[in-house]
Amino acid sequence: MKKIFLIILLWAGMSQVSAQKADYHIVPLPTSIEQDTTKSFVLQTGMAISYEADNKEAQSTAEFLCQWVKEATDISLQLTPDNKRAAIRFVLGLQGKGITVKGQEAYTIEIGKTGILVRANEPEGLFRAAQTIRKSLPVGIKEQKVAFPFVRIQDAPRFAYRGVLLDCARHFFTVDVIKQFLDVMALHGCNQFHWHLTEDQGWRFEVKALPDLAVKGSVREKTVIGPSNMRIYDNVPYGGYYTQDDCREIVRYAAERYINVIPEIDMPGHMMGALHVFPNLGCTGGPYPVAPHWGVMRDVLCGGNPETLDFLKTAFGELCDVFPSEFIHIGGDECPKDRWKKCPKCQAKIKELGLKEVNGRSPEDQLQTYLNHEIEQFLASRGRSLIGWDEILAGGLTENAIVMSWRGTKGGIEAAKQKHRVIMSPNVYAYIDHPQLKDYSKQPRTTDSYQVSCSKIYSFEPLIPDALTEEEQDCILGVQANLWTEHIAFPEHAFYQLLPRLAAMSEVQWCQPQQKDFEDFKARLPRLEKIYDKLGVQYCRQVE
Ligand code: ACM
Ligand code: ZN
Repeated sequence: MKKIFLIILLWAGMSQVSAQKADYHIVPLPTSIEQDTTKSFVLQTGMAISYEADNKEAQSTAEFLCQWVKEATDISLQLTPDNKRAAIRFVLGLQGKGITVKGQEAYTIEIGKTGILVRANEPEGLFRAAQTIRKSLPVGIKEQKVAFPFVRIQDAPRFAYRGVLLDCARHFFTVDVIKQFLDVMALHGCNQFHWHLTEDQGWRFEVKALPDLAVKGSVREKTVIGPSNMRIYDNVPYGGYYTQDDCREIVRYAAERYINVIPEIDMPGHMMGALHVFPNLGCTGGPYPVAPHWGVMRDVLCGGNPETLDFLKTAFGELCDVFPSEFIHIGGDECPKDRWKKCPKCQAKIKELGLKEVNGRSPEDQLQTYLNHEIEQFLASRGRSLIGWDEILAGGLTENAIVMSWRGTKGGIEAAKQKHRVIMSPNVYAYIDHPQLKDYSKQPRTTDSYQVSCSKIYSFEPLIPDALTEEEQDCILGVQANLWTEHIAFPEHAFYQLLPRLAAMSEVQWCQPQQKDFEDFKARLPRLEKIYDKLGVQYCRQVE
């Protein structure tokens, strides 16, 4: 008997020695990691994960973690609800001595001799913790065990809003590709998927009351090849749109990963897809092609035609039916006023509203604000809040508008000073359609006016302390990376543009400024890239 006991002890000890170690220095870096590296808990095949039996969300997270552990290490764990002796325990409730993290995404992971205890205020926190455990694992190992050094991790994100935009209008990406995109977002702790659905080059959201809108408005006859101004086309029709069932499936899939989907219908500019189907909504009456090239189009929705608002309310109404998001994006960017200045209907509306040039605000810019106001009221009646690009400042912000600052941070600063909520997405730091490497010949061709490198993104400080008081800084909800797709037609290219720049962005979104260190980030990146390899997504192998 004694001998057997000794053998078991020896075996257990040896397994401690031979097991590869988990490493908690992941991306984005947790808020606090207090380790005792002299002792480890060894997780191995056959062990259990437990969650509170009546908690479906915790169960779903436990299932995810089982799958991620299996993918990385070949360790098979068992799901056992309400099992106090399980190796990994998910528990709701986060009080106790020395706990400093707060909020619905806050969590702690305590690892000691009895195993891995995960605690959070909300299921969302359990999910973030599960991602941390996943990213701590050695990837691609053969042994069915991993040693977890004793630790207490405390973690919570810096910003509540951690977004990524995918432009599915310039190019169409399938539901499966979007799901993969959402998986990658969740891996980086992102929680807002901004889905750019309508454009000059195609309208991609099914509106049931207007069946031709997506069927015809999604198809352009041809696409420009190379620089837009060369006007050389492929002469191949290009289309694709999302049915409302597709959209609901994306919303469901995203919600399982604690990601909110913010749909965007870009108005009143970027509307050639819709104008092609409803030329009566343009100032000149058309005809209008679905745009076959990129750039800013002069033809926009007529601001003086009452049918414009009827159209928008129908489209936004169905958008609200499909997307539960509190935030709805109305675009508002790049709307030239050339047509409005000459259009009798627009000018009559300006007169009717009594709009005059004030404080450098043109009557036409104020006409855009009038449209925004109507849509804001409509969205509010559905319990939603309006987000717009920073051009919505030009004619004056509507009462509760949230500003997404893209032309640098200036618009965001101005909006925060007016006590409006702001999302920072400045092009020079956050436009990941731009090249990531200095040498253009080393990467696929894309938007090429300036480089947006990992280090550039990493250096971004969203609260702009030089310009904003602490109270104004409270208006900054968070940060977003934008992946426009004029030059990105294939998923492989989209992921190449996204990664590893999203990793750099994730530390801007998640980490406290004093934690950030680019060299340290680069040292932590290769283990994350092993997960990219496992997921089969493309990424840029060089970090500048
Ligand atoms: C934008 O990049 N036009 C928002
Ligand atoms: Zn007009």
